[in-house]
Amino acid sequence: MKVGVPKETAPGERRVALVPEVVSRLSSSGFQILVERGAGEQATFSDAEYAEAGATLVDAIFGRAEIVAKVQKPSPEEVARMRPGDVLVAFLQPLTDKEGIERLSRQGVVAFAMESIPRITRAQPMDALSSQATVAGYKATLLAAEYLPKFFPMLTTAAGTVPPAKVLVLGAGVAGLQAIATARRLGAVVSGFDVRPVVKEQVESLGATFLDLGIRGEETAGGYAAELTPEQQAAQQAELERRLPGFDVVITTAAVPGRPAPKLIPASAVEAMRRGSVIVDVAAETGGNCELTRPGEITVEHGVTLVGLVNLPSTMPTHASQLYARNVAALLQHLAPGGELALDWSDEITAGACVAGKKEATA
Ligand code: NAI
Repeated sequence: MKVGVPKETAPGERRVALVPEVVSRLSSSGFQILVERGAGEQATFSDAEYAEAGATLVDAIFGRAEIVAKVQKPSPEEVARMRPGDVLVAFLQPLTDKEGIERLSRQGVVAFAMESIPRITRAQPMDALSSQATVAGYKATLLAAEYLPKFFPMLTTAAGTVPPAKVLVLGAGVAGLQAIATARRLGAVVSGFDVRPVVKEQVESLGATFLDLGIRGEETAGGYAAELTPEQQAAQQAELERRLPGFDVVITTAAVPGRPAPKLIPASAVEAMRRGSVIVDVAAETGGNCELTRPGEITVEHGVTLVGLVNLPSTMPTHASQLYARNVAALLQHLAPGGELALDWSDEITAGACVAGKKEATA
């Protein structure tokens, strides 16, 4: 089967769905890979490297490849060029972009959303949410270190001792745990909090302290947090307002799938923080965990720097693409073993990840 890798067209997107290393692996396991000229350029992968890995360089992918592998969802124009029965693999936002999914359905595309791959042990090599959250968490800590007008580590110098920065990470899922680990490596004193009580042990195993805010949320069957009740949310905000002045940096990664980011930090809590403190809001894309976050911007409010940059994985496109490409390759090999499409709808991964075109493909 022909797998096509188009150049990403979403503004600011620098990643690419397959990298040369993975192209080479897929080519030797029966796939023919088409790569749009310049597709990997922004992620530092040249056309020559793709050609060397066995890819055919082309000027257009849509309508030419039976399987299209992308990072971001395709534009309406790109979807219009796909043929019924073509397979698409990408982040498709199935819980929030109903219109996009309907468009793919109408076009007869068999679409697999990377977000919908069940988070079961067997599917771990395909878990792009985790691989990209790892990048986001790491980058969030680096951004915090960059904007904090202080050192992260404790320093003992001839001019005296500098105390370590105090970092709080709210939401200790994949991104949060990576942010904690990175802040620890930089020498900060780190605390973490999550509404899922099971996370306490993971936070502590990274050498951080679990901050007890007295809030315990529910965990859904998929291992995700359930949304807090309005009373719990108000209690969390009030407790955080009391605790935040003790921290130099707050990195927030709290999310509930398919819902706007939970508001953890009200404007009054930002006002209560020390001047020079930094909040990095990794949830900016879904509205932000802080009331004052401006998605896509870095602002200063009450002397506190608020980093609301979005799509952090795209700011480290080489490794983000490499990890994503491995996730995509694992899914492709699952859907098309030996390079031939063999969709087994009784399989939990295939059925779970498919968000459009399932019936057409069965018929
Ligand atoms: P996510 O990106 O959906 O959410 C990030 C974190 O925010 C979560 O830990 C969540 O509990 C937390 N959160 C939600 N509301 C909050 C609030 N009001 N205050 C503080 N924290 C709040 O989650 P992510 O990182 O995608 O991981 C979700 C789950 O998936 C975890 O249980 C993780 O262990 C599990 N997982 C399982 C894998 C597997 O293959 N078995 C692989 C990766 C993750």
